[in-house]
Amino acid sequence: MKKTTKKSVSKNLRGRDYLSVDDFSPTEIKSLIKTAAEMKAHPRRFRSALDGKFMALIFEKPSLRTRTTFTVGIRQLGGDSLLLSPADINLGKRESVFDVAKNLERMVDGIMIRTFGHDIAVGLADHAGIPVINGLTDLEHPCQALGDFMTVLECKTGLKKLKLAYIGDGNNVAHSLILAAAKLGATLFVATPGEFRPASSVLERAARIAEETGATVLWTADPIEAARDADMIYTDTWASMGQEAEAEKRRPLFAPYQVNASLFSHAKPDALFMHCLPAHRGEEVTDEIIDSSNSVVFRQAENRLHIQKAIMFALLRP
Ligand code: CP
Ligand code: NVA
Repeated sequence: MKKTTKKSVSKNLRGRDYLSVDDFSPTEIKSLIKTAAEMKAHPRRFRSALDGKFMALIFEKPSLRTRTTFTVGIRQLGGDSLLLSPADINLGKRESVFDVAKNLERMVDGIMIRTFGHDIAVGLADHAGIPVINGLTDLEHPCQALGDFMTVLECKTGLKKLKLAYIGDGNNVAHSLILAAAKLGATLFVATPGEFRPASSVLERAARIAEETGATVLWTADPIEAARDADMIYTDTWASMGQEAEAEKRRPLFAPYQVNASLFSHAKPDALFMHCLPAHRGEEVTDEIIDSSNSVVFRQAENRLHIQKAIMFALLRP
């Protein structure tokens, strides 16, 4: 079999979609993180990398980071983008996903979509002959997870000896983090209330990947078991976009999973605190933790820019 070089990895991604962390191999993920680090260190070297390329950015949910980093990122690579909000296209209602795909593939070079059902992003990718990138669905947030592992690798030396912990809701962010941990051979403890476990399909897929990579992904209902001696504690909102009506009901169930000084005291003294943001201060995390020197949440937010530039470059490159 032909040896996979860094150059061929990047070329292999040309024209592909990125809907799930599982779409990329461990080698491809490592190569993207490496490219993102190069882009972060030497942004001017890449300023014509996607000269004249155009991205359509479809947002059916609100966004600060994803919208800003995709818009700025494609510009920094020499391309441009167009925002399509629900008021513009009303996906699936004003026009079918199929028809939107068939229009856009003739007009732009790539699509980023943030939507509700993962099947909508899959449908768009199936019908559009151009790369489609998942900017968050109810099932996954795959750009977030790669930016997060880039952040861990910037702050710690290697992944092999680290114990990572995700504590909170078994949601889209947790799913992508689980798959990325499995792909990268990391050890990740996931603590959620039983009722809010990550999807079994994701945990089972992670277990299969882990057999090949040597990763350990464990679910527990006990937040202290996850936090104990951890090198990183990650949390996210207890009620994701689209679940706002459940927020009140969820609050007492999730209270024992709040990342506060007491829970954080079980982790290593130099443990990182991570959050994809937006944070609900006083709910999933207290001010003293998110504002502490252990917190790398704004570095994570910045790294969305660099990792998405690397992803867009790999998928859309000439
Ligand atoms: N973390 C993240 O995706 O943030 P936005 O919802 O603001 O895009
Ligand atoms: N789980 C959150 C992530 C926001 C970036 C949500 O889906 O709302």
